[in-house]
Amino acid sequence: MLKKIISLTGSKRGGWQLGIVLALSVSTSRAENADALGLIPQPQTVLRSEGVFRLQPPVRIFTDTAARESGEYLAARLRGATGYPVSVEAAIPAQIHQGDILLTAHQAKAGLGDEGYELTVKPGEIKIQAASPAGVFYGGQTLLQLFPPEIFATGRVDGVIWTVPAVQIEDQPRFPWRGFMLDVSRHFFNKAEIEQTLDFMAGHKLNIFHWHLVDDHGWRIEIKKYPKLTQTGAWRKNIGFELDAQESTAYGPDGRYGGFYTQADIREVVAYAQARHITIVPEIEMPGHSTAALAAYPELSCTGGPFNMDLDAGIFNGIYCAGNERTFQFLEDVLAEVFQLFPGEYIHVGGDEVPKDNWKHCEKCQARIKAEGLKDEQELQSYFIRRMEKYINAHGRKLVGWSEILQGGLAQNATVMDWVGGGAEAANGGHDVVMAANDFTYLCYYQSLDRPPKLKAARRYLPLDKVYAFDPVPAGVKPASAPHILGVEGCLWTVFFASMHEVEEMSFPRLCALAETAWSPKAARDFDGFSRRLERHLTRLDRAGVAYWNDHALRIGGWQPAQISAAAKVLEWAVPPQIVEPGQYRLSLNYTQGKHGLKIDWAALLENGQEIVRDTHEGLAGAGYNRPVKARDWNYFLTLPAVKPGAEYAVRVSVSGAGGTNSTGVVFLDPPAADSKK
Ligand code: ACM
Ligand code: ZN
Repeated sequence: MLKKIISLTGSKRGGWQLGIVLALSVSTSRAENADALGLIPQPQTVLRSEGVFRLQPPVRIFTDTAARESGEYLAARLRGATGYPVSVEAAIPAQIHQGDILLTAHQAKAGLGDEGYELTVKPGEIKIQAASPAGVFYGGQTLLQLFPPEIFATGRVDGVIWTVPAVQIEDQPRFPWRGFMLDVSRHFFNKAEIEQTLDFMAGHKLNIFHWHLVDDHGWRIEIKKYPKLTQTGAWRKNIGFELDAQESTAYGPDGRYGGFYTQADIREVVAYAQARHITIVPEIEMPGHSTAALAAYPELSCTGGPFNMDLDAGIFNGIYCAGNERTFQFLEDVLAEVFQLFPGEYIHVGGDEVPKDNWKHCEKCQARIKAEGLKDEQELQSYFIRRMEKYINAHGRKLVGWSEILQGGLAQNATVMDWVGGGAEAANGGHDVVMAANDFTYLCYYQSLDRPPKLKAARRYLPLDKVYAFDPVPAGVKPASAPHILGVEGCLWTVFFASMHEVEEMSFPRLCALAETAWSPKAARDFDGFSRRLERHLTRLDRAGVAYWNDHALRIGGWQPAQISAAAKVLEWAVPPQIVEPGQYRLSLNYTQGKHGLKIDWAALLENGQEIVRDTHEGLAGAGYNRPVKARDWNYFLTLPAVKPGAEYAVRVSVSGAGGTNSTGVVFLDPPAADSKK
C-alpha cells in the first residue's frame, strides 16, 4: 500500500503548493508508524500494537493520591470535549474493568526520572505509570494527543468516536528547563491571555514560563511598597512602535495604554501554572531596561530624571544608579514581594544591554568603583549583580541573568541565559546555563519569506527547520560540563506584536519545534518525521484555536469595516480552482485590526452556487476575541465529498459586527490535508 504524506518542509517554498512525497506503507517502518500518531514532542520510544481503546460513558479514572490532581485535569479535558461523565477516584481498584483509566506510581520505572512516564493503551484499559505527579501529567498530555484532534476543542464536540490506538510509550525529557519567555512590558497581555498561553505550553510539555514583567516600556507587577511602579510605570501615553492604536485592547479607562497584574492576579496565574506543572520565572530587569521604574522613582537614577512614559518623547534604556544605596534597598524590597508571589527557585534579574555612560558620569557610581576597588563600569555591573545575588541566595533562591552578567566576572552561583554567547564558557566554568541563542530561539524573528510580518520588527529570518535544528548543547562545552546545560527557551519580544493573535502566530508552530529540541532524545531528531507529525498536530492546534503561522493556507480574501453591519450578513469568496480537491477544508477568519470583533454564525461550502455543507458554530474574530477565551473559535471545517468536473466552488459565511463594525481581517483556506483523505 502506498500512502500519501504531505511534506511540510515548505517554509522556503513559494505559496501554498503542497509537496507530495510518497512513502512506503506504515507497516514497513516503525518510525513512520509512530510518525502517523503525530506526537509532538516525540516520545523516547513508541510501540504500536493491534487494536484501539474506545472511550465510552461513563468514564472512570482511578488514581493514587499523588496522581489525583493530574487525574482531575485529565478528567476535565475529557469531559469538556466529549461531554461524557468522567469520574475520578483516588484509589486503585483490585480489579480493572473494561474501559478503565489508571494513573499510578505503582511499578513505575525509576529510570524514567522525575518527569518521565510509561503509557500503555490496550483495547480494554489505559494505564499511565510515573514516579511523580509531573510524569503522570505528561503521560496525560501524550494520551490527549492520541485521541482524535477534536479532544482539543474548546467546547463539546458531538459525533466523534473517541478512540485511542493501542500503544506502549516510554518517555522522559532530555532537559529539565523547557522554557517560553513572553515580554509583557512592550505590550500588556491580560490574565486570561497568560493562562491560555500556559495551556498551550503544557500541551507541548514546556515547563518554564519566563515572565518578562519589567522593562523600559512598562512595569507590570503590583508592588505594595512602591505603588507608583504601576500607577505611573504600567501606563504609557500611546501604543508606540509605529503600531496602529487599535492593534491592542489594553487601554485603561483614562485612555492610557498598558496594564498590570495585581498580586491577586499573579497568585492565580501561579496556581494555574502549578496545576500544569509549569514553574514561572519572573524577570525583574536590572540595572538597565528600567525606564518604567525610573519614571515612577526618578531618584533611583544617576541623573534624577525626568523620565516619562511617552514613547514619542523617546523612552530610552534607563539604568539604576549603582552608587546609590537607595537603589539596592528598593530592589531588595521589590524582590521581597516577588519571593512571596513566586514559589519557584529562579529569579531572573535581566542584566542585558546596560549602557554604562550614565555610570561614567555619575559621582556616586564613580565613588562606588573606588570604594569597592573595581576596575571599571563593567566591574560595577558585576558588583551590582553579585550584590543582588547575595540577597537572592540568602532567601533560598537562585539568580538567572542574560549573557551580559558575565561582564566583569560572573556572580558565584548565577545561572546564565545565553542569548548572545557565553553559554559554553559559563558551563565549562561550572555554572548552569539556559540556551536562548537568539539565532535559533527568538520567535520575534520572521518565519516566512512569502508572507513576512512586519519586517521592521523581524530583523532576521528564523524558519521552522532552523529552530528544529538547534542543539541546546553549544559547541565548546566539554562533555563533563554538558549537564550544566539545563535546557532551552524560546523568547518572544513583543515590541511589534501587540495582539495575542500575533503572539500566537509568531510562536507557533516554531514553539512545537522548540519543544521537541527541549524534550525529545537527540538521536530521535528528524525534521522530515517532525514535519509529518506536525501535519496532524496542526489539526489539534486548529481545534484549540491557536492562531499559528500557516504557510500552506491560501489567502482567498478578507473583510473591511464597510462590509460589516450590526445585523447578520452573508459574505462569499471563491475557492481558487487550483485547490479544489475532495477532503476537509479549514476556513479561517483572521482578525488583523480594528476596534471591534467579527461574530461568525456559520460557514458553508457551495458548488455551482448550491450549498453542499455547513459548519454551524458561533465564532468570534477580533480585538477582544479571547475575552472571554471561549469565544475564539474562528476556524470552520468543511468537507467536500467529491469534486464535480467543471463545477465552481465558493465559501460563504454569515457574519455581523461584535461590539461595533470596525474590524478588518483576512480569510485563509487550507486545502484538504492528507489525513482527511485516507
Ligand atoms: C535580550 O534580547 N536583550 C536579552
Ligand atoms: Zn550613578
